Amino acid sequence: MRTPVIAGNWKMHKNVNEAIDFFSAFRDRGNREGVETVICAPFPALPALTEEAKGSRIGLGAQNMHWEEEGAFTGEVSPTMLKALPIDYVIIGHSERRIHFAESDEMVRLKTRSALDHGLTPIVCVGETLEEREAEQTREVVRRQVVAAIRGLSSDGVTRLILAYEPVWAIGSGKSATAEDADEVIRFVRKTVADQYDQQVANEVRILYGGSVKPANIDSFLAMGEIDGALVGGASLDPESFARLVEAAH
Ligand code: G3P
Repeated sequence: MRTPVIAGNWKMHKNVNEAIDFFSAFRDRGNREGVETVICAPFPALPALTEEAKGSRIGLGAQNMHWEEEGAFTGEVSPTMLKALPIDYVIIGHSERRIHFAESDEMVRLKTRSALDHGLTPIVCVGETLEEREAEQTREVVRRQVVAAIRGLSSDGVTRLILAYEPVWAIGSGKSATAEDADEVIRFVRKTVADQYDQQVANEVRILYGGSVKPANIDSFLAMGEIDGALVGGASLDPESFARLVEAAH
């Protein structure tokens, strides 16, 4: 009922030429029905990738944006600039932005709202740090982040966004959560959405797992009832690996 999503987050990797090379190798295998495939590339590669992606089902996303349409915000990129490319997705509140660039829950809320208002699909990331997990605060942290991100949205807005549960300790560490663990937290995320809205809204939201997903473990995550796909860092940089993840979800 929920279309699976395989989204690649390239982070600060690939210049425009490398991005085009990736696309030539990936395009035919990544262009599949029945799975929403998204590549979230650095800003300088996005204009060229919109050309490469024309006529394919592969979606493109940014990794961040400001919530205002324009203004004196040096170094920032606005939702209208992304839409003009055109880009359809944007990652919001990745833990690397929360940790290294001091993004607060309130900023995540403003960005999520603005993305939806501008017709972008936000991929909103939540997840606990290792310290929080060891202190048994996973649910509390994830609940706080989800509630803050969706506060004030219409039900329709909530059904259009994508959530991604990314435990911080599993990112780039080679140490993924077990599929069972991830499924349990994602069930809790869905319940949190149901508590704020209703079960029907919660049933429609796609919720991904992210953290050291690769071809060798993707099947175990996709086999879980609550996990609607993956947000992938390292394994999305190689066209062969990323194509295998898309094929697994197909
Ligand atoms: O947003 C994706 C991410 O943070 C996971 O990264 O390299 O562990 O797949 P990685």
